[in-house]
Amino acid sequence: MYGLVNKAIKELVVDNHGQEKWLEICSEAGFEESDFISLSPYPDKLTYDLVGAASKVLKADSKDILEAFGEYWILYTADQGYGDLLDLSGSSFVEFLGNLDMLHLRINNMMPELKAPLFSTQNETDSSVELLYKSHRKGMVPMLRGLIKGLGKRFDMVVNIQEVESKATESKGLCFKITW
Ligand code: HEM
Repeated sequence: MYGLVNKAIKELVVDNHGQEKWLEICSEAGFEESDFISLSPYPDKLTYDLVGAASKVLKADSKDILEAFGEYWILYTADQGYGDLLDLSGSSFVEFLGNLDMLHLRINNMMPELKAPLFSTQNETDSSVELLYKSHRKGMVPMLRGLIKGLGKRFDMVVNIQEVESKATESKGLCFKITW
């Protein structure tokens, strides 16, 4: 994944637990450089290893770390020069969800090796919407949950996310019912 992702993980750890813990995590993950280059792609394994090492060093479930990371990502990207893009992606929660592919497509211009997930929305009501999510990767659902929560907060909403098991959507990816 692009360095921006690993940099955000670093920032989240340093903000909450300090630089010392971050250095311990890097050593556990076998990462010897001092920082990441936001616009350079890194192997996915590094990101998974950093999350695994953070789980061990901070004694926290890696799913909880990924979820916290997803929530943090919305604030972090706004702070890293992607605020206008976030503003442009929707003036309501549901509109934003419908524009996630457009958002990643625009990022694709700056990050040509981006392997972004694909999204679509369906069955919208006044208090719910279903989000279809198709990823090239495994294990990113907790991050998605955090992202959706963080996005809800951006619109002053408390959202609930439930995975909907359905054979019909299998080929389109996973389906989540989001309610508020
Ligand atoms: C300006 C804001 C955003 C930026 C700059 C951004 C950029 C990225 C980048 C760089 C990756 C790593 C993929 C790679 O390097 O190949 C990624 C992955 C991902 N993004 Fe975004 N993104 C943004 C907002 C969002 C939002 C709002 C959502 C959903 C609510 C989202 C959903 C995801 C998910 C779930 C992944 C995990 C990778 C996967 O499932 O394969 N992103 N994004």
